[in-house]
Amino acid sequence: MSEHIKVSIDGGVMSIAIARAEKKNALTAAMYDRMIAALDAAEADAAIGVVLIHGEGGDFTAGNDIADFLATTKDMNDFGGLRFVRRIAVFDKPIVAAVEGAAIGVGTTMLLHCDLVYAAPSARFRMPFVDLALVPEAGASLLAPLRMGMAKAAEFLMLGEGFDAAQGKAMGVVNDVVAAQELLAVARDKAQKLAGKPRQALLATRRLMRGDRKDIVARIDEEARVFGQRMASDEARQVFLAFMSKSRK
Ligand code: COA
Repeated sequence: MSEHIKVSIDGGVMSIAIARAEKKNALTAAMYDRMIAALDAAEADAAIGVVLIHGEGGDFTAGNDIADFLATTKDMNDFGGLRFVRRIAVFDKPIVAAVEGAAIGVGTTMLLHCDLVYAAPSARFRMPFVDLALVPEAGASLLAPLRMGMAKAAEFLMLGEGFDAAQGKAMGVVNDVVAAQELLAVARDKAQKLAGKPRQALLATRRLMRGDRKDIVARIDEEARVFGQRMASDEARQVFLAFMSKSRK
């Protein structure tokens, strides 16, 4: 179990904190597995109504750990990131996210599976999959065009341009922009409000809003097939090695 994921429970809300500040909260296989275990526990525990995800140290997450990309084989079932996105896509309880600083790759795509997203002015969202010689994951190739429109999705998924909290709010990806010092308290308050609602009505409403998830799950699997091929490609490995050669370890 990874010490870089901290899980706590308070008033019907499970908080999952990503805590690897020295690496901008980049996610390793162990961290994904800890988050999956937390989601499993939250779903199974009737006392938990809502999950809150946030980062510690000024960032949400800089996405998948790039060293882990290099270590992953073409068999995507070995890839923690895929296990995590498959899990969050079918998770049944509301998820609230509090985002500041870097929200890159899965740091942005996981938000498409959240219900309420609060962001500090420092938040920077980016899905630079093509620049990494990869393709989108977490169903973003389906969900980003649906949520943001095809033109904006092309800027983010193909050009690799980023957006900030205010732009995220204008596109309906972010609920509200909140000062950094209040961000966690506001997100926690909203999570607690949700947790206090009549539980079965809340869960049924979420299911109705999200609809049948088989299309999303099928897209995640299709993306994963291509992602696995891309990850093993020379062009991707060169990008990963170039990034790692700048890193201290
Ligand atoms: N995987 C592995 N390590 C990462 C990482 C990642 N995704 N993101 C950041 N880090 C590490 C850096 O290598 C650096 O490590 P070091 O101190 O040992 O050298 C440390 O975190 C701090 O990052 P740094 O790049 O020095 O900070 P910055 O403020 O200049 O830039 C980012 C921050 C997030 C913009 C930049 O780190 C970045 O672009 N990261 C990669 C994001 C990415 O492409 N993620 C994959 C998406 S699929």
